[in-house]
Amino acid sequence: MAPEIGIIGGTGVYNPDILTGIREEIMSNRYGQAKVVFGTYKGREIVFLARHGATHSVPPHLVNYRANIWALKEIGVRRILATAAVGSLNEGMAPGNFVLADQFLDFTKNRLSTFFDGEELGVIHTDMTHPYCPSLRKILATAAQSLDLTVHEKGTYVCTEGPRFETPAEIRMYHILGGDLVGMTSVPEVVLAREAGICYATIAMVTNFAAGISPTELSHQEVLDVMAANGKNLSTLLMNTVEI
Ligand code: HPA
Repeated sequence: MAPEIGIIGGTGVYNPDILTGIREEIMSNRYGQAKVVFGTYKGREIVFLARHGATHSVPPHLVNYRANIWALKEIGVRRILATAAVGSLNEGMAPGNFVLADQFLDFTKNRLSTFFDGEELGVIHTDMTHPYCPSLRKILATAAQSLDLTVHEKGTYVCTEGPRFETPAEIRMYHILGGDLVGMTSVPEVVLAREAGICYATIAMVTNFAAGISPTELSHQEVLDVMAANGKNLSTLLMNTVEI
């Protein structure tokens, strides 16, 4: 049976170790290649994709988002649970908290961000009123209730081009514009999933307060450390969600 659920693991989430009967495959499509891992959790078929590669070797601006989403579509995935490490611009969203993003602000610059480039699939303008799937966000919120976690059910994700972190001036601007979180990967991933007709939700995990809000300079190691400290919570939330 084809898996209906896809998990895209972001920074700190490379290993589908909770799955059994694991089988790896490299899928080729018109956009490139995507490495996926098939497995089973409590009788449910799941496919896992490490966004940055198994060893975090692909930076956010070079991820082949189109090849990844197209591969999941070809497999027959109907729902994607994506994880993301984020900085926070919102004092109420502290490191260790989870946020189910409901909106985004797109500040990416150089990414191939559509399947509808006027070629084979034509020109289509996709509605983005609800970029992150409301029904999947609800399931995630329900799954989180039984866990001792702080989960915010809404948040605006500001997507930057990266791979550098932001300046404090940029963070002040994003805050004025209504941003809550800052990260480097949700766009175009969420957009492509919408274009592909796949229900997509992001579980953002706050790893730090953003530049200028944090009392210290940022480092990738800090992001990895907080992800590692909360990895168990994140996988429990993911697996509770898959069970619903
Ligand atoms: N900025 C951008 N991306 C991030 C951050 C941040 O502060 N933290 C984790 N990913």
